[in-house]
Amino acid sequence: MDMPNLNNDMIDGTAAKAAQAYANQFGTPGFDDPRKFYIDQHYSGYSEENQEVWQALYDGQMEFLADRASDVYLNGARAINLVRDHIPHLQGEHSVNRFLKQLTGWESCAVPGYLPAKAFFACLSRREFPTTVVIRSKQAIDYLPEPDIFHDVFGHVPLHADPTFADFLQTYGQAALTATDDADMTRLSRLFWFTVEFGLIREKGELKLYGSGLISSPGESVHALESPDVERRTFDLDQVCDTDFEIDHYQPILYVLDSFEQLRDAMNQYANRILEKNEATAGG
Ligand SMILES: [Fe+2]
Repeated sequence: MDMPNLNNDMIDGTAAKAAQAYANQFGTPGFDDPRKFYIDQHYSGYSEENQEVWQALYDGQMEFLADRASDVYLNGARAINLVRDHIPHLQGEHSVNRFLKQLTGWESCAVPGYLPAKAFFACLSRREFPTTVVIRSKQAIDYLPEPDIFHDVFGHVPLHADPTFADFLQTYGQAALTATDDADMTRLSRLFWFTVEFGLIREKGELKLYGSGLISSPGESVHALESPDVERRTFDLDQVCDTDFEIDHYQPILYVLDSFEQLRDAMNQYANRILEKNEATAGG
């Protein structure tokens, strides 16, 4: 898809090409260091328009989310000092990482673009979240099909400040990195989709948003909570893993957690199943 006027000045093109080429070969001999996927965020490369887009998105969504997002998300956004004034810094004294690292050991790491699945999982297994640093243009403010820094930092990173979610996501990464069975890879991608990207949670009897695809999408966040066309199912890991998802329209099925402990515990069980399977295979 054509992306009008997407500014890339916050990225060094040569370094980005090298990082992407390395990530694309991850898993082959000699290409096993996730730190080589990462690039710098050249903060001065953001234009005034980029900053205005951040502020407009932040203002529009934060007000909406104040009584519709999970408390865990809202507390996390405060804890990492996510603010409207400027696009988040990933490095340095004023960065979200400075707060995040102290809270849970997670870190948001700039990447040049889309990482292959195993490379992405390797990052999660190290408590490192691959983060896009470009930001959508004004023309694409309502919908960008690719992740950008608004989706990745505003949408994902606040949850990483919560110890329970932080543990879940690392276990997810470890399990997905070691899984060898195609069926497990399909199941794990569905689990990611219906939780990390499009999850709902019930808090004090009320339905709340936490999935980043909902948190960072003005249109779909309303639809997810209010539309009678959405089937909201009680979370069950095996059922989630058996549910196909579609990517090009609003989700007709969503899964609702009782708590993030429920998600962490279910993930631990699933990770153990994958480990046992690997050991059985290795043992012949
Ligand atoms: Fe995402």
